[in-house]
Amino acid sequence: MSARPQVARTPQELRELCEGTVAFVPTMGALHDGHVRLMEHARPLGRTLVVSIFVNPTQFAEGEDFGQYPRTWEADLERCAEAEVDVVFAPEVATMYPHGTGDQVTVDPGPLGTILEGAARPTHFRGVLTVVAKLFGLVRPDVAVFGEKDYQQLTLIRLMADALCLGVEVVGCPTVREADGLAMSSRNRYLNDEERQLAVTISQALAAGVAAGPQGAQVVREAAADCLARAGISPDYVAVTSPDLGEAPQSGEGRLLLAARVGQPRLLDNCAVTLGAVPEGN
Ligand code: PAF
Repeated sequence: MSARPQVARTPQELRELCEGTVAFVPTMGALHDGHVRLMEHARPLGRTLVVSIFVNPTQFAEGEDFGQYPRTWEADLERCAEAEVDVVFAPEVATMYPHGTGDQVTVDPGPLGTILEGAARPTHFRGVLTVVAKLFGLVRPDVAVFGEKDYQQLTLIRLMADALCLGVEVVGCPTVREADGLAMSSRNRYLNDEERQLAVTISQALAAGVAAGPQGAQVVREAAADCLARAGISPDYVAVTSPDLGEAPQSGEGRLLLAARVGQPRLLDNCAVTLGAVPEGN
């Protein structure tokens, strides 16, 4: 069995435990196999591998599940040990927000933060980018690894690191799925048996969209939306974009993204899709 990671609660403890290049995986805990894959991906990228566990209050709006968000500390440490994590950084809210969670200085995600998830959760990405910028400042990583499962988040963090010259390489890691295709997420544990069965429709909708790729973005969107509708799921959005979340190209690489509530939990998923015009007459 691998050794348990060291736990740092303060920036000073963290500094004492970091040596050489630092690879970093930020999380909110409730770790699952998807997180372990991120850690395994990050392991060879730095001399010290740091994982943060911090349930960030500012990315939850009022009425969202901040209070109920699963907190599974002991199990999380076991998962970090499995992935040979050196240091778990688990700060207090006051450490991350010394001026309070109503901080006057925050990171504005810009226009890309107002579409898709940002339209459904208008303050979400400000909270995410602000806490990630703070974590980057405290951990000082050379490289940070994020899952493609939260594709808009990954895109915005990449943009932020570049736009604010943070000197961190942001690496994306493919989504890890259950055997039936459901994307792994800490919130899947909220699904009851019936909802869990229905939730597989989300990845089936992506597959339907991908199969329609040669017919172009509009048909991809319709194919995915129809698949959800047949299962009685009404999505918050089904969107086809370019890989950087701009307008979908007529042909070439695109991204298919969707979000839908299945019971209480709101599930997100996305995948690459190859778009191409079908020649006339087909
Ligand atoms: O993806 C998450 O778990 C969170 O949004 C993150 C990046 C750790 C920021 O709190």
